[in-house]
Order: sequence, then structure tokens, then C-alpha cells
Amino acid sequence: MQEQQLFDKYLEGRHWEQHPTTYAESYAQFLKEQSFFGLLVDIGCGSGRDVAFFHQAGQDSMGIDYSLPEISKAKTAHPSCNFLVANCEEIPFRDRSVGAYFMINVIHYVNPRRALDELHRTLQDDGYLFLHCNLDITDKDGNNDYHREEEGVYSLTSNFRILKKRKFQRVDTTPTVHTHTILELILQK
Ligand SMILES: C[S@@+](CC[C@H](N)C(=O)[O-])C[C@H]1O[C@@H](n2cnc3c(N)ncnc32)[C@H](O)[C@@H]1O
Repeated sequence: MQEQQLFDKYLEGRHWEQHPTTYAESYAQFLKEQSFFGLLVDIGCGSGRDVAFFHQAGQDSMGIDYSLPEISKAKTAHPSCNFLVANCEEIPFRDRSVGAYFMINVIHYVNPRRALDELHRTLQDDGYLFLHCNLDITDKDGNNDYHREEEGVYSLTSNFRILKKRKFQRVDTTPTVHTHTILELILQK
């Protein structure tokens, strides 16, 4: 299924907005354990839920999304947080200027090679990237709407070191029941 068709099939209800901040919480804990300080950028931040969490946790943070309506909504909902309209395939930041990235529920909508090259370029040396990649999305009837080979993810991220990895399934119920098989990576440049 093409990315746009996939987006449209599950757009109604915008189920990702109802996700908890669980993943942001675990990344914040990881960064704390690394004594990380610096700028953390949420790529494809949508409604800004996770940026608001990082901000409240005292983390210097901002969100970028290529959709002006998303960024407008995020700014209205979280006026004390920083947001920017930008495309993750052409990130408007200098080389090695970002300490850490967070990217969930996004990479299957973009050109992953271009996005990962941009993340790598703009990350400072030893900077971190928390990444969720869908390996499969299966609808309620068992039809596979999306598939990416796990090996393909490792080749896309081969210029990073893998610090942590886990695979899990998440069942979303809106707009219809569907199951994501997700590869979660914490990477270091
Ligand atoms: C499914 S939503 C996930 C939003 C948020 N990360 C979350 O988990 O709630 C995907 C987001 O990626 C954004 N997006 C898609 N392509 C993008 C690109 N090339 N650059 C930046 N953001 C992009 C969309 O506008 C949308 O807000």
C-alpha cells in the first residue's frame, strides 16, 4: 500500500494523538541516564504531545512537522513550547547542531533514506536518535497494509550505532482495529 493510501486509511480518528507519552517518558529516562543535556527535537511532532512532555520534564526541546495546520494546533495547545514547520528530508539546521532526535509514527510516511541522512548530518557527534519503524501494519481482517524488512531498517541506520533495540506489537482501535509491529531503536551517531 502506498504511504498516502496508508495514511488515508487510518486518518479518521487520528488515533496516534491518543497515544500516551510512554515512549517519550522512556527516552527521557534514557537521556537522563546518559547525563544528556542539549537540544532534543521531535521529528513529525504532530499535535505536540511529546514535545509538551519533554518541555515539562525540563528538557530543552522543540518539535518540527512539515504540516502548517499540525504546527498551528501544536502551538495553540502548548504555547510555551517551540515548534517549527520543516520537512525532515531537508532539515533547516546546521551540521552537528542537534543533541538528540525523537521520531515516532513518522518514518513510514517519508523517504527514509533522505530523512535518516538529514538526521545524521544534523546530529552532533555522539548524539542520540530514538526511532520507531513499523515493520508491519495489519488490518482487522489480517490484511497486511505495510511491510518493511527488519534488515532494511538496519541498513538504513548503518551509520549509527545501535544502543538499544526492542520489537513489540501495538493494537490501535481507531478508526478500526489494526496492529502495528514496531521496531524501536535507540541509536547513537
Ligand atoms: C502519524 S502522525 C504522528 C505524529 C506524532 N509523532 C505522534 O506520534 O503523535 C505523522 C506526522 O508526521 C508528519 N510528517 C509527515 N511527513 C513529514 C516530513 N516529511 N517532515 C516532517 N513531518 C512529516 C505529519 O504531518 C504528521 O504530523
